[in-house]
Amino acid sequence: MVLGIETSCDETAAAVVHADRASGRLRVLSGIAASQDDLHAPYRGVVPELASRAHLERIQPVIRRALADAGRSLRDIDAVAVGHRPGLIGSLLVGTSAAKAIAWSLGVPIIGVDHVGAHLVAALLDADPCRFPAIGLVASGGHTSLFTMSAPGAIELRGATIDDAAGEAFDKAAACLGLGYPGGPLLDALAAQGDASRAPFPLSRVPGLDFSFSGVKTALREAVQRPPDGCSAADLAAGFREAVVGALVRGVERALDAHPAQGLIAGGGVCANGLLRARLGALCEARGLWLRIPRPHHCTDNAAMIAGAGALRALAGERDGLDLTAQPLSAMVRGRRGPARRTVP
Ligand code: KG4
Ligand code: ZN
Repeated sequence: MVLGIETSCDETAAAVVHADRASGRLRVLSGIAASQDDLHAPYRGVVPELASRAHLERIQPVIRRALADAGRSLRDIDAVAVGHRPGLIGSLLVGTSAAKAIAWSLGVPIIGVDHVGAHLVAALLDADPCRFPAIGLVASGGHTSLFTMSAPGAIELRGATIDDAAGEAFDKAAACLGLGYPGGPLLDALAAQGDASRAPFPLSRVPGLDFSFSGVKTALREAVQRPPDGCSAADLAAGFREAVVGALVRGVERALDAHPAQGLIAGGGVCANGLLRARLGALCEARGLWLRIPRPHHCTDNAAMIAGAGALRALAGERDGLDLTAQPLSAMVRGRRGPARRTVP
């Protein structure tokens, strides 16, 4: 029974996950997330100092509710998992300190989890085991990366964005269109009313398994300033969404061509996007592969994926010590992008 804690950015989240030792099946017993969207919306991005203070206020009630919803008490917990990297350092410190205090007081192991890898474990929650190897796609506000996976916890980086993350591009494009924060879901909703063929944006020409989204972002900004004839904001949003989703799907196709795989695991907030989900579904069906994408609330940041990833480490006999530290960068992704995802400069 694993308590998971996630405070890497602007969600204060806790969850209880039960891992079956024999099958490795991960069952979510509860999951609570306190959003800070209202707090940061006026700034159109996350203000790190506000985020860490809000985490501090919310962390204890959120953990208590996660335990209560699961019908468990702290005494039932066998390990505490925490997303200790990557993220905003002040935010990470709150979750990491809380997790260490609970693990120490209960005398149970603490397990540090890399948030990026946990986005791939989200697809394995409440699901039957699947056959590996697989390709993994993480498309979030801070990362856009392709991995090969030889087993649920055995993940190797194969490609990553060389500039903006896909979610970051959605958020910046939404801001450019005058939509609110967070921009991804709002741009997605506007795009649903538009016609992508009226505003075609080119796919980036990055070779191999890397991505680039800064070009399409600039193209959108120019189109907003000088819209093509008869082109509405909804058409621009639809064209932009088409270009970003197209680049992600092309990356997955290239990864599948380059590496043997039986299936595809996708995760991260952008995988809540209906068009991306549909395109990945069609791709896997055409190639006879299985596909795992979490339900939308497990695509965006949540603590169940942290608890699940921690449980996999615990089942493999791994654990950390109370010297576990919060770290701004992921160990799984090349350090091209700093921790400043979606933050106000
Ligand atoms: O995984 P996540 O919750 O946080 C990070 O780890 O970064 O991802 C958040 C990102 C945001 O950039 C948000 O705009 C984007 O996911 N997002 C979406 C949608 N829902 C969330 N992007 C496109 N379409 C959506 N429906
Ligand atoms: Zn995330």
